[in-house]
Amino acid sequence: MDPAPSPAQPPPPPVHVAIIMDGNGRWAKARGMPRTAGHKRGAEAVRRTVEAAREMGVSYLTLYAFSSENWKRPAGEVTDLMGLLRLYLRNEVSNLNKNGIRLKVIGDRTRLGADIVALIEESEARTAANTALTLVLALSYGGRQEIVAAARLLAEEVKAGLLAPSAIDDVALASRLSTNGIPDPDLVIRTSGEKRISNFLLWQGAYAELVFLDVLWPDFGRDELESAISDYHRRDRRYGTAAG
Ligand code: FPP
Repeated sequence: MDPAPSPAQPPPPPVHVAIIMDGNGRWAKARGMPRTAGHKRGAEAVRRTVEAAREMGVSYLTLYAFSSENWKRPAGEVTDLMGLLRLYLRNEVSNLNKNGIRLKVIGDRTRLGADIVALIEESEARTAANTALTLVLALSYGGRQEIVAAARLLAEEVKAGLLAPSAIDDVALASRLSTNGIPDPDLVIRTSGEKRISNFLLWQGAYAELVFLDVLWPDFGRDELESAISDYHRRDRRYGTAAG
């Protein structure tokens, strides 16, 4: 018989936590501040959360920083968000390096400004050898768009005679997604009380546990991450198998 697990041994953290950071606008509105102020405080919550995730032993943290649909927001807000991302990339990379954090950006780079793309490439290259935590920023990202792009790649390979249609399976498709090499998320958290997936990691999140929190993103930090992970630990993950 297997020995009973020691109660003193905390369960391991989820390998991959992904977060839909929502509620910056409402946080600002409640204080009579402009939406930009909410995004700015949201960027501080990003710093706290990355640090907490690393300390808790999470291996991959994916943050939904800008969706494909966010391009439809007023031009001023898009400019503000891009400005914050630019600042984050410029100011945080040395800190990420100091803490052994590798940065990876997923999403449609063709829609991003050339200077941001250059910053992303430089930041990814500078942090590539780090192993403590992989921070994945989803930028100009949409799950459907990502699956469409993967389908197009497969079609081109078939057309070129490099791939048989019968060789297309879930592994073949997953390997053409921008998350190739990254394990699927175990836990997806969404803040602000909304209960939607909003085009985030549609393929990869097939078996993720979902935790919806009422807290607005600028108020998120270590305590909220710990609470979501405790909730995750109480779940019975079955991947479609029968209940035990
Ligand atoms: C949702 O709040 C949040 C976003 C659209 C973007 C998230 C961006 C940040 C946290 C700041 C910058 C990020 C980094 C990585 C430095 P919302 O505006 O939709 O809020 P609302 O639903 O209350 O209006």
